[in-house]
Amino acid sequence: MPHAIRLYEIGGPEVLKFERVEVGEPGPGQVRVRHRYIAVNFIDVYHRTGYYPLALPSGLGSDAVGVVEAVGPDVTDIKVGDRVGYMGGPQGAYSDVRVMPAEVLIPLPDGISDRTAATLIMKGMTAQYLFRQVYPLKGGETILYHAAAGGVGLIACQWARALGVTMIGTVSSDEKAAIAKANGCTHTIVTSRENIAERVRELTDGKGVPVVFDSIGKDTLQASLDSLQVRGTLVSNGTSSGPVQIDALTLALKGSIWFTRPAMVHYAKPRSHMLSMAKELFDLVLEGKITSEPKQTFALAEAAEAHRMLESRKTTGATVLVP
Ligand SMILES: NC(=O)c1ccc[n+]([C@@H]2O[C@H](COP(=O)([O-])OP(=O)(O)OC[C@H]3O[C@@H](n4cnc5c(N)ncnc54)[C@H](OP(=O)(O)O)[C@@H]3O)[C@@H](O)[C@H]2O)c1
Repeated sequence: MPHAIRLYEIGGPEVLKFERVEVGEPGPGQVRVRHRYIAVNFIDVYHRTGYYPLALPSGLGSDAVGVVEAVGPDVTDIKVGDRVGYMGGPQGAYSDVRVMPAEVLIPLPDGISDRTAATLIMKGMTAQYLFRQVYPLKGGETILYHAAAGGVGLIACQWARALGVTMIGTVSSDEKAAIAKANGCTHTIVTSRENIAERVRELTDGKGVPVVFDSIGKDTLQASLDSLQVRGTLVSNGTSSGPVQIDALTLALKGSIWFTRPAMVHYAKPRSHMLSMAKELFDLVLEGKITSEPKQTFALAEAAEAHRMLESRKTTGATVLVP
């Protein structure tokens, strides 16, 4: 009998319940996918804690890789046996097997293993849309990137290196600094002992950076603003430390700053565009410019422990669950 993580209330990791579930046949436009790996993302914490509201009871998770084992009527471009990944659709990726819309599936190339793909779909596509769409990097820029040793972060480090971008990455420990540097981050700022904005000014001859990618939010907002050049761009792409509040006058006083709070859903549509984003990512992996393996692996039943590790900043790179 299949199992899944179910959520009946919002709260701490203990609200993640590992249960037997019924999984039926796919209807029109749907497929049944048997998961090989399930990716854990910070957005799953936002859902579990109620920061992003969910209609309860609910499944959890939106990012996994697996094999298609049944196809519903009207599904033409996906067939039984296809290896696929996804980063959208209804919540419920924390499961052995599930029925889901075919339209969100991304076929996986032969040269990329399931384990690697599980670290790439949401996290690599995030790096793609941040660096290639939200603030298209040309090469030669110096950027500030927060949480450089995280799941999205380690892919972003490598993508920046591939583009010829100098990345200044923040991390909370020397161990994380070494990992970020090994992945292509040019300079690291260890936030437990260094002042972020002061170090950015030192590293940029006082100029500051044209863009900051800030996924930490509340704790880093001020430092991000203080690190920018006049008319720089603050990309607020996550809130791992808590929500961001900012008023328009602050943006003016800090140097006519451009501020955006992007969400993947608005950058990965229509489906043809999502597939071209994935192709760009997969090509970099197939060329060896990005390499990625899970750094933490848990059984599906241990999802709560995976959340505890992620929230307490004990992880580096990607975390996956194995059904
Ligand atoms: N906008 C979008 O479309 C989109 C899509 C995907 C992901 N995201 C965002 O991108 C970020 C990275 O996601 P991820 O899944 O790869 O997570 P992650 O970066 O692996 O984990 C979060 C990291 O944030 C840092 N952090 C700083 N303060 C923290 C705090 N108070 N609590 C927890 N972590 C803190 C930690 O790194 P240090 O210990 O080194 O500081 C931690 O390892 C998240 O904010 C996520 O919401 C946004």
